[in-house]
Amino acid sequence: MPAHLLPLSRRQFLAGSAATLAAFRAGTLSADESQADPDSWALLSDTHLLSASSIARHYAGNKAMHQRAPVVAENFNRAARQLIALPTRPAEILLNGDCVHVGGKDEYELLAHKFALLETFPIHVTMGNHDHRDDFTNTFQEHTRRGDRVLLENRHVSVVKSRHANFILLDSLTMQNPNRPVKGPGILGRDQLEWFESVLDSHSDKPAVVMLHHNIDPSDDYQKRSGAREVVVESASPFKGFTGGLEDSDQLLDLLVTKSHVKAVVTGHMHQFRIFKWRKIHFVSLPSVGYTFDAKEPVGWLRMQLQDDGAMLELQTLDTTHTRHRTRADLRWS
Ligand SMILES: [Fe+2]
Repeated sequence: MPAHLLPLSRRQFLAGSAATLAAFRAGTLSADESQADPDSWALLSDTHLLSASSIARHYAGNKAMHQRAPVVAENFNRAARQLIALPTRPAEILLNGDCVHVGGKDEYELLAHKFALLETFPIHVTMGNHDHRDDFTNTFQEHTRRGDRVLLENRHVSVVKSRHANFILLDSLTMQNPNRPVKGPGILGRDQLEWFESVLDSHSDKPAVVMLHHNIDPSDDYQKRSGAREVVVESASPFKGFTGGLEDSDQLLDLLVTKSHVKAVVTGHMHQFRIFKWRKIHFVSLPSVGYTFDAKEPVGWLRMQLQDDGAMLELQTLDTTHTRHRTRADLRWS
């Protein structure tokens, strides 16, 4: 099914927690009080909300994980405050996977409470390797868009249309180890790639921005054959020893280069902000909202301003004194 969430009812998810909402709202504008710009989008990833029951089940005795739970919860609040306080608010939010850390009803209910803070924003979600597809569906079923039909069995894929571009949301989560917190590298699979190609062909009138959780990770042989990448925004620090990207990256790239209206591919998973360009396609790795693997890398999210012939991306670090706060990149479609 597509994972589009209607603006959630604060009454339902924040019942009995008026103090929570009051504390959250202190010093922020209401989303209703600012204007939404239909060309402005908020791109978030890797919020990794972590529940007490997940810690007890998977990380008992792990002090670092105990300490992480309140940090990721507060980081979500900080991102939400920033979003709501923007003078011109983004029209919609895209959350690119690893919404929670383990899965399970408790964690998706935590996520629902956080989404409730975002009031009127429509939210679209992809699945990461820390998510659990069925637990997500079961928690949010009532809040998904009525009448959405299943586009692809057993995957949360969708098409989100806008004036200047269509967002195509893919699902790279494999459920080979459903009860493990980290379910491993991603894969799209042949059925999804076929669906994706048909969607690209039927939406060729506008630029396409493709979103999936796992990073593109081509084989060594493919990289040797594929030519150089042009770095647009460097990561704050080189990443060492990271494996577990998209297993069928070669097949995805082979498809992407045949579709000239694909202008950008947006991924999460790496928890680091960087952009490179390869064969006229921009590859955007989103920063993490929850936590980073490297202290030099800021936590945050991106504001995307779509234009006729490109997009402006602006990094919103949660610590607004960070040197990379409001780093901008102008992407030109060619
Ligand atoms: Fe993650």
